[in-house]
Amino acid sequence: MSRHFGAFQRLLPPSAVCTDVGRVNTSRVDWLGQFSSPVLPDSPKFLLQPSCSDEVATILKYCHEQRVPVVPQGGNTGMVGGSVPHRGDEVVLSLSRMNKIHSFDPTNAVIQCQSGCILDNLNEYLRPYGYVMPLDLGSSGSCQIGGNVATNAGGIRFLRYGSLRSNILGLKVVLANGDTIDLLNTLRKDNTGYDLKHLFIGSEGTLGVITDVCVATPMLLANSVTALLGLDYYEDAVAALSAARNKLGESIAAIEYWDSASMRISSTTQLGLGDCRFYLLVEVASNMNLESLEDRMMDFLGMYSKGVLATDEGKKKSLWKLRENIPLALKGMNGHTYKYDVSMSPHLFNQATLMVQHHLAAEYPHAQVFQYGHLADGNLHLNIWSPTFDQEIKNLAESTLYEFLRLHRGSISAEHGIGVLKAKHLNVSKSEKAIATMRNLKFLFDPYNILNPNKVLN
Ligand code: FAD
Ligand code: MLT
Ligand code: ZN
Repeated sequence: MSRHFGAFQRLLPPSAVCTDVGRVNTSRVDWLGQFSSPVLPDSPKFLLQPSCSDEVATILKYCHEQRVPVVPQGGNTGMVGGSVPHRGDEVVLSLSRMNKIHSFDPTNAVIQCQSGCILDNLNEYLRPYGYVMPLDLGSSGSCQIGGNVATNAGGIRFLRYGSLRSNILGLKVVLANGDTIDLLNTLRKDNTGYDLKHLFIGSEGTLGVITDVCVATPMLLANSVTALLGLDYYEDAVAALSAARNKLGESIAAIEYWDSASMRISSTTQLGLGDCRFYLLVEVASNMNLESLEDRMMDFLGMYSKGVLATDEGKKKSLWKLRENIPLALKGMNGHTYKYDVSMSPHLFNQATLMVQHHLAAEYPHAQVFQYGHLADGNLHLNIWSPTFDQEIKNLAESTLYEFLRLHRGSISAEHGIGVLKAKHLNVSKSEKAIATMRNLKFLFDPYNILNPNKVLN
């Protein structure tokens, strides 16, 4: 046991200190199995699982005084190694027991809850009221709203409802020294000086631990129709974005795309579309009657020679599964997946992918390249797979892709964040002065660097 174990046992109720070997071990490895804590003589053999913000404050006050590094952990579904220890001596602070929903106010359409609530559970809770959470991701069965806020998660509803940041009305945060800042506003309008909550949204556990959140929720819409298009040219997918806006207008709920390589690993079903190089999934949702919505979608689909339409729940789910399965299928491929989550104009996705593919092909014929993502949000998920991890592949892919992003003023992270994975590449998307300001902020909030050390800023 680490030397701090006894202190945590004294300071916290027994249920807040977990010594279950299985749980402790899984908390120190990420979802992809690509990041894990080094095992050191002083690596904690326990994890902390407080039940309220006061217990979080007790933990951080002690850690601040004793200089104990802490990794806040939500559902541990993050893609950039932010949610697990990197040095080995960090204590994992799991938010999973902080799963109480405090209230839902239908007048204001705001949900208030603890940060450890799982996204799917919040949606289940809201359904009878006729509301939904403003975000949805493939990890919704495990990720927590606090983790979503800490990463400013994107997902498939971004197009419709905007960023999570724009839907967060309030937060309660415990700072590195154990002080609590209560910013739990439910107000939709509030211009009282600096909007501090935005500093914590997307800060990946480096500035404070989010313990409670207030989220504005959109209405659950009565009807939706999903279509899948098969396209032969990437340019057709890009052109379909403006066509969809023209034909489908305000009813567009999601637009996702993927390539034939992604389709091969994700799908076992025959869709009757034949072999296509690209696929575009378009969903519309509205309170207008189903027939009118279907007519709208048919009008759009009529522009294309290969397309399928889904109105019943089962078929809609099976079309969505083709998209949502891609990251899971890549994980199941028994090798190493190098994940890139970048942002640029949708016009450039295929060019960037082909460039990376071309650079890899000569020297690494076993490497396979996949492109998919949130096309209308300008968010490309470029994934490379190889039978084993190869640092040279990583270097080549990164130098090619990041140079391309630099040239086009793109971002190295559209939605997954920086974590450990991209900390040394932050300067591709941020100026020196911006990074220096981030360092100053980090020092102000966490002078002893106890909160998620080595993440975001290295
Ligand atoms: P964790 O992974 O536990 O933590 C993520 C980061 O947040 C870490 O740095 C951690 O220290 C910090 N953190 C967690 N909780 C708190 C807290 N309460 N206070 C302060 N810091 C905290 N992401 C997208 O954006 N869009 C997608 O479409 C998407 N799809 C995914 C699909 C799959 C199948 C998987 C496995 C992941 C996907 N992700 C996606 C990535 C991931 O699910 C998101 O980043 C999610 O928001 C992480 O939530 P989490 O609770 O698992 O956080
Ligand atoms: C997605 O959109 O599927 C996620 O962000 C996960 C991934 O990039 O693989
Ligand atoms: Zn995504």
